[in-house]
Amino acid sequence: MKPATAAAWKALTGAAESTRGTHLCEMFAANTQRFSSLSMRWNDWLLDYSKQRVTTDIMGRLQVLWQTADVPGWIARMRAGDAINHSEGRAALHIALRHPASKGPILHAGRDVMPAVRHELGRMRDFAAQIHGRHWRGATGEPITDVVNIGIGGSDLGPRMATQALAAFRHPELKVHYVANLDGADLATVLAGLQPRTTLFVIASKTFTTQETMQNAASARHWLVQALGEAAVARHFVAVSTNLAEVARFGIDPANAFAFWDWVGGRYSLWSTIGLPLVLAVGFDNFSRMLAGAHAMDEHFFSAPVAENLPGLLALLEIWNTNFLGADNRALLPYSQSLALLPRYLQQLEMESNGKQVDRQGLPLQCATAPVLWGEAGTNGQHAFYQLIHQGGRPIPCEFIVCKHPDFALPGHHEKLLANCFAQSEALMRGKTLAETTAELAASGMSAEQVAFLAPYRSFPGNQPSTTLLLPRLDPFNLGALLALYEHKVFVQSVIWDINPFDQWGVEYGKQLAGRLLPIIEGKAPTAGLDSSTAGLIAACKS
Ligand code: F6P
Repeated sequence: MKPATAAAWKALTGAAESTRGTHLCEMFAANTQRFSSLSMRWNDWLLDYSKQRVTTDIMGRLQVLWQTADVPGWIARMRAGDAINHSEGRAALHIALRHPASKGPILHAGRDVMPAVRHELGRMRDFAAQIHGRHWRGATGEPITDVVNIGIGGSDLGPRMATQALAAFRHPELKVHYVANLDGADLATVLAGLQPRTTLFVIASKTFTTQETMQNAASARHWLVQALGEAAVARHFVAVSTNLAEVARFGIDPANAFAFWDWVGGRYSLWSTIGLPLVLAVGFDNFSRMLAGAHAMDEHFFSAPVAENLPGLLALLEIWNTNFLGADNRALLPYSQSLALLPRYLQQLEMESNGKQVDRQGLPLQCATAPVLWGEAGTNGQHAFYQLIHQGGRPIPCEFIVCKHPDFALPGHHEKLLANCFAQSEALMRGKTLAETTAELAASGMSAEQVAFLAPYRSFPGNQPSTTLLLPRLDPFNLGALLALYEHKVFVQSVIWDINPFDQWGVEYGKQLAGRLLPIIEGKAPTAGLDSSTAGLIAACKS
């Protein structure tokens, strides 16, 4: 589909025009059934999108895009293992990683991938059992107490976020740390608290060539070898990669290498052996429950009609906000400290996938794609940036995620957390008019002069759209389903925008230029040919 020229798209442009002046409060007043008609349940989840600036009529029109863009056809292509990542000639089969053994084969290039998937899952399970059972010993015969995952992007964000999300399920003794940044401060501060004798490194990199990861891995190796000698590497380093030849070249025993495949994109790889540090953190059974949750969401996505399809609805609501209401960002606001890293994880998933400028034919896009995604755990964000959402004058669609039951049940906390979450979505929707503020201040006993002075500062436009996703609790199953929900939402949007969500050439360009500048910074190549800013910055560092 060429979105901007499709009839359904044009009809939505018209609908946006005709509802532009209608406040959310008016929409609620006009339809007393608004919550029941603009919310849906899946299992024991509730998605409330009645505070979005849509009507049932607009939702109906948005749902036409699902058929017009042939989302069902693209789902079928994904499931069949077609090379839907066409600019890299690859399939995108992350759904296979959570496909249960009992449900038959998943084919890639005519071969069932499931035996290999199950084999690696089994190896992860056995390895975790060895570490947890203290059978795997370091070079000095001591058990492992600390695991350091070294990876970046998809080889870091997923397991790091999930390890925090499932903090309530963590192994009581084993500590799992994450290092990603090329800045030596990251590795150095983690190593400062560790003993080489009891530390295991997981080097996680799909390509095993990423500069950040290779530098951190080399420094970690040096730290270990200095303390325990070269022979210790075999007991203290394991790797996760699709590039087993590079793993061997780095000096990691092939028996300690966990494989995955080129049909797994980096930002879709949490479900693969990239999940190894998570398995070590929370145990294989919990990891399996997370896979089961993701599979349940896959099944829902594949079979539910668009009007009841959670990923489909989230995708369409954001398309409405982005392409028809002109919002260029979305705030992701989990009212869950355990989900504090979710915004960061979704930044890669959503912006690396759909931050694109050309369509599937390589032609310039006529519509906006992924909005800037940002966010922070509530209630912390309330004391930082919510002021701007309330009174800053910009459209900022907000997505609240909150659990009915807490994962850490300290008395008195959770009810307050819920109250704050729901109060924010109410305030953003409702606002407070100048007349309401004036009446409120007058009733408090202020002088008319004071009231007139203060009222403008204490009034709010409201009409800020939001969605609230209420989960029963944050456990491995629900976390898996939540992450798969966002994967599929991104996919639906890519289909409607007619873009490839599985490549990331923009990131590759930055890597290429860094490779060119390194020898110049090291003094091994001349600055000739550089622009004056880049040359000036390098000269300032060297002076
Ligand atoms: O950020 C670009 C990227 O290629 C991501 O897609 C990937 O997750 C990350 O780099 C890390 O790559 P690798 O796992 O190959 O080290």
